[in-house]
Amino acid sequence: MDKIKIKGGKRLNGEIYISGAKNAALPLICASLLTDETVTLTNMPILSDVKSMNALMEQLGTKIDSFDDFIDGHESKTYSYRTPKLESLTAPYDYVRKMRASYYVLGPLLARAGKVELSLPGGCAIGARPMDIHLSSLEEMGAKIEIKNGYVDAEVDGRLKGAHIVFRNVSVGATCNILMAAVLADGITVLENAAKEPEIGDLICLLNKMGAKIKGLGTSILTIEGVDKLHGAVHKVIPDRIEAGSYAVAAAITGGKIELINAQPSTLKTPMQILRKMGVDVSPTERGILVDATHKKLVGEDIITEPFPGFPTDLQAQYMALLTVAEGAGMVTETIFENRFMHVPELMRMGANINVHGHASAIVRGTKKLSGAQVMATDLRASFALVLAGLAAEGETVVNRVYHLDRGYEKIEQKLRGVGADIERIKETGED
Ligand code: EPZ
Repeated sequence: MDKIKIKGGKRLNGEIYISGAKNAALPLICASLLTDETVTLTNMPILSDVKSMNALMEQLGTKIDSFDDFIDGHESKTYSYRTPKLESLTAPYDYVRKMRASYYVLGPLLARAGKVELSLPGGCAIGARPMDIHLSSLEEMGAKIEIKNGYVDAEVDGRLKGAHIVFRNVSVGATCNILMAAVLADGITVLENAAKEPEIGDLICLLNKMGAKIKGLGTSILTIEGVDKLHGAVHKVIPDRIEAGSYAVAAAITGGKIELINAQPSTLKTPMQILRKMGVDVSPTERGILVDATHKKLVGEDIITEPFPGFPTDLQAQYMALLTVAEGAGMVTETIFENRFMHVPELMRMGANINVHGHASAIVRGTKKLSGAQVMATDLRASFALVLAGLAAEGETVVNRVYHLDRGYEKIEQKLRGVGADIERIKETGED
């Protein structure tokens, strides 16, 4: 029940080291289930979601070793995963309820053991988030699937079979799951309309290092030639583009200047382009990306979320916070999730002028100053948006339910304090 207290109004200045990507790390961990040899992942972020995934892996029979590491002079973790024998083929409700990315064990377990029971994740704070694409694709590969007592019961006689699958919708999760299922399948699988997010590129890199034969990296058509066996590998997790984009907004919203060390410009083209249009100087450096908002006035700009390389839904809330203090207006259109404006009422409590139209669009009219308040959000990115608003606001902001932030932002207070923010964590017990 920790809270974060921020005294706003400080111009942030300095550098922030960008950690390994949460949304790359989670499927990479599950890919280790595809072999009985050791898969070592370096540059792993220290996050509660990684801990939750590790707990599920141990339950399935994975032996995990962890080491403190230094990558480019910064603290990180290296984990090694070895699953000599699967001790369970079930991902129970308590794990999936805590973290829906637990569903990444579906493809690997079915490919390796021919059977899996996965508690079906329900809807969540940002939308209904069904799994129909994952399941129908596995059926096309020969799996028999039943939903029983809230569980997906999937089974295949022998090996999965290669298939030509056309996703009806671009889905990051389904692309990862079907890739992991197809690498050990019998024959060739072609995935059309696959997601192209950099985290998928990272998964393909690891799988190919493990002996998989996947072609089409970076495109929406992936061809996977199934192999009989995969082996161990060592892999460095890519930097977190969403963390980098979030701290870029921290620089912009405070009129500050931050170098995002390790951020990869190629993974952030659209969000950085929007920042430039809003009047922020953004330039690649030898070490990452420099975001400089010290000279110009911020102006409003329209944003529409789309699959990569479009503007990421995982930065929508943070950019909306930025628009609340820009001159003029910006229209925010959310096309990926049907309920991802939960931050709007909280931003309005801080003085933001936002008009929501239906579920998908909102007009944000800039206001001169936000004012600090007690706020809370029901998901990770919305919580970060409230931290950003707090950094820009007059007075004190207290962000409740900090556990959301701990799922996806490593050392958030330390990183922000390092660039001059007045921010502290309040440890509390009892109701939040
Ligand atoms: C991943 O979720 C990310 N999670 C999300 O990050 C991210 O917002 C999302 O991709 C979009 O980029 C992880 O990587 C762990 P999708 P995922 O399948 O895979 C619909 C964060 O804050 N759909 O690409 O669950 C779905 O409802 C999180 O870090 C179906 O209809 O997203 C959505 O509208 C939140 N049927 C759209 O597709 C399916 O079977 C895209 O979802 C699957 C998805």
